[in-house]
Amino acid sequence: MNRSLPLLPGATIGVLGGGQLGRMMAMEARRMGYRICVLDRDTRCPTGQFADDVVVGTLDDLESARCVAERSAVVTLDTEHVPAEVLTAISEVAPVRPGPRVLATIQDRAVQKQFLDRLGLPQAAWSTFADDAELAAALTRIGAPAIIKARRAGYDGKGQARVEHAADAPAAWHRIGSQPATVEALVRFAREISVVLARGVDGAIAIYPIAENVHRHHVLHTTRAPAPMAPAQRAAAERIATTIAAALDHVGVMAVEMFELPDGTLLVNEIAPRTHNSGHYTYGACATSQFEQHVRAVCGLPLGDPRQLTAAVMINLIGDLWADGDPRWQHVLARPHARLHLYGKLSPARARKMGHVLLLDDDPDRALASVDELLAALQS
Ligand SMILES: Nc1ncnc2c1ncn2[C@@H]1O[C@H](COP(=O)(O)OP(=O)(O)O)[C@@H](O)[C@H]1O
Ligand SMILES: [Mg+2]
Repeated sequence: MNRSLPLLPGATIGVLGGGQLGRMMAMEARRMGYRICVLDRDTRCPTGQFADDVVVGTLDDLESARCVAERSAVVTLDTEHVPAEVLTAISEVAPVRPGPRVLATIQDRAVQKQFLDRLGLPQAAWSTFADDAELAAALTRIGAPAIIKARRAGYDGKGQARVEHAADAPAAWHRIGSQPATVEALVRFAREISVVLARGVDGAIAIYPIAENVHRHHVLHTTRAPAPMAPAQRAAAERIATTIAAALDHVGVMAVEMFELPDGTLLVNEIAPRTHNSGHYTYGACATSQFEQHVRAVCGLPLGDPRQLTAAVMINLIGDLWADGDPRWQHVLARPHARLHLYGKLSPARARKMGHVLLLDDDPDRALASVDELLAALQS
């Protein structure tokens, strides 16, 4: 197979994991003429519905991942939770972008936080621990309230437990299965923002307008872009994100989630070495979506124009909205400035991300003010 760069339309892109990020990338990749081969346990997964080829297997199964690599000119990821050992093994067959080292640094929260400390980047006071005594010692230093986070495999607040008082810490750790974890200070942030960028094989970087994010129950609820921000503050956030991308030698889209304190101080919350929920607004509001941008980066193409064409608000649609049956889509579809994205998931479990709505509006305050009413109408 020809794997020389740039990989041009007609080439096959392998995707490990068949969720909504892979799906939207597949939609953009196929529009551009690429082929998609995805690894997932279910051929009917969100990405599988837009793939040319599905290899059925689990993400930790080396043989299945190798099979994808053999059929692909480049392999990329829908999730950061593919074991780094699997990526290292298959990178002998096909290039893996981002590379195994990036994933090894990100997948373990303690290693990720050590990496950020080494770069001298600001984050909440944190510690890793292995038993109740170490947890107690860490809390003495950090103080309560605090948040315990599993070192591996967390997403959408899963594997996290809040500690109000130091005395509750063992019980909180028990609630997440007493697995290896980190503990960090609860941050009283003024708001959460994220920087979504892409870095090419040649090290070129394209940065999207910064997103302002509201979470509910630890799950992203809305994103507003561009985030209202003074130029110096925006430059500071961009500098943090580009420092991380370059230090990782990352290739592809990457997001850095940050807390902004009331005095303007920025703290890094976490790094996602992939397309990101807070970048979904780019798919509809920017000249180049984060999904096309990821394809361009991993194929060794020049990066596209990240310019935002219209202000936007993204609203996540989670499974809870399906409690009384299908939401009443006519209430989204009746709004000319609203774009509906559904991920084709087969069952709407609670807290599961099922889709999103993008509101294209020159006045994002107005769009944000309509979110509760829109969600209520969907369930009416
Ligand atoms: N130290 C913290 N202080 C305050 N809020 C936090 C803290 N850590 C996480 N959160 C909240 O929980 C959300 C999810 O946590 P995060 O660490 O980003 O995990 P993940 O996105 O992998 O589930 C954050 O976006 C934020 O709203
Ligand atoms: Mg997060």
